[in-house]
Amino acid sequence: MPQALSPARAQRLLQLTARYGTPLWVYDAAVIRERIAALRGFDTVRFAQKACSNTHILRLMREQGVKVDAVSRGEILRALAAGYTVGQGDDAVHSGIVFTADLLDRETLETVVAHRVPVNAGSIDMLAQLGAVSPGHPVWLRLNPGFGHGHSNKTNTGGEHSKHGIWHEQLPQALQAIREQGLTLIGLHMHIGSGVDYGHLAQVSGAMVTLVRQVQAAGHDLKAISAGGGLSIPYRDGEAGIDIDHYFSLWDAARKEAESVIGHALALELEPGRYLVAESGVLLAEVRAVKAQGRQHFVLVDAGFNELMRPAMYGSFHAMSLIPADGLSRPSQATVVAGPLCESGDVFTQGDGGVVLTRDLPQARVGDLLVIHDTGAYGASMSSNYNSRPLIAEVLIDGDEDRLIRRRQSVDDLLALERF
Ligand code: LLP
Repeated sequence: MPQALSPARAQRLLQLTARYGTPLWVYDAAVIRERIAALRGFDTVRFAQKACSNTHILRLMREQGVKVDAVSRGEILRALAAGYTVGQGDDAVHSGIVFTADLLDRETLETVVAHRVPVNAGSIDMLAQLGAVSPGHPVWLRLNPGFGHGHSNKTNTGGEHSKHGIWHEQLPQALQAIREQGLTLIGLHMHIGSGVDYGHLAQVSGAMVTLVRQVQAAGHDLKAISAGGGLSIPYRDGEAGIDIDHYFSLWDAARKEAESVIGHALALELEPGRYLVAESGVLLAEVRAVKAQGRQHFVLVDAGFNELMRPAMYGSFHAMSLIPADGLSRPSQATVVAGPLCESGDVFTQGDGGVVLTRDLPQARVGDLLVIHDTGAYGASMSSNYNSRPLIAEVLIDGDEDRLIRRRQSVDDLLALERF
């Protein structure tokens, strides 16, 4: 949750929109570095790049010693483009890239085999398919512990209604498949959802120790355990974030218990996406129309859910600030903030199930700048070309400097795909 925008910050954002136009994604490298530093207790921090997969952000992560998770062939190639390397042999446990999924499409299978990217398998079929073509391939088991949680049902990745992970009761079959296929087991992994509260996050470490016991009893060895990601951030005023030191001590205790079961040291991984980047990013949009619909006051901006999908997809809340073009303060008004798309759900102030809500904002006029906060995670990475809208530019602020890290797509870029 952002503090009120300082005049200097507002000025800087205005300068960026003057140079790069709107809508615009802006990230602050200092915030990302600060979040990385807070996680230093973990042996490996593995960034879930689906949250923000720009190669310049990935490079920044790499320079800070953060490793990366990939969930598609595209994300593997992005990580390689950002200079990540794949750990081989004994180094597979420290690999710069791990591929996590519940299935392997044929092209991705070829890519993970060609680069020998460790695979975090969410299904036993993946183990069979991988073993058939890549003897000794390093694997993690992504286990579904039978419970999950998330900020929305759509982000809960545990329990029997979730497609994710190998069901905890099928761990023996998974271990059997590893043995039969001659694969190399590196570690156990659990990720129960995204935007998880502390209580649910805390349950996972206990489930991990139980499953490590089963691995040992079945005569297998392990090198690492992963706590997954899911750490929530405070999107609303007064919301508490995760107490990282406490969270680490919980997992450190679980790791020590697992080490006593296995009989040697185990590396402890964390795989956050949102925690590392959400608060570093804002979406900037210009107010282009203001209208009254009965009693509702609508402010229409030039960004839509094709840019920021979270409110339409999950009813997510994002704090907003208005920077008046004339620099003068205005009385506030209950406002519905909506975008340009030809679709009724293109509203940034909405709750669960699409109910339209209002936000108290200074009375907006055409030409003002709207800042939508905490959009560094699952913002740009979930954007689409809906309504034939080109992807927008991304800018990274680093101290006094800023640079374009993705150019704005053009309509010609879109049409080029259809020209033969
Ligand atoms: N690891 C795995 C295996 C995951 O599936 C995910 C997120 C993460 C780590 C990172 O989770 P995080 O730390 O960012 O919560 N689009 C949704 C979030 C979906 C996340 C999917 N998996 C949103 O905008 O809230």
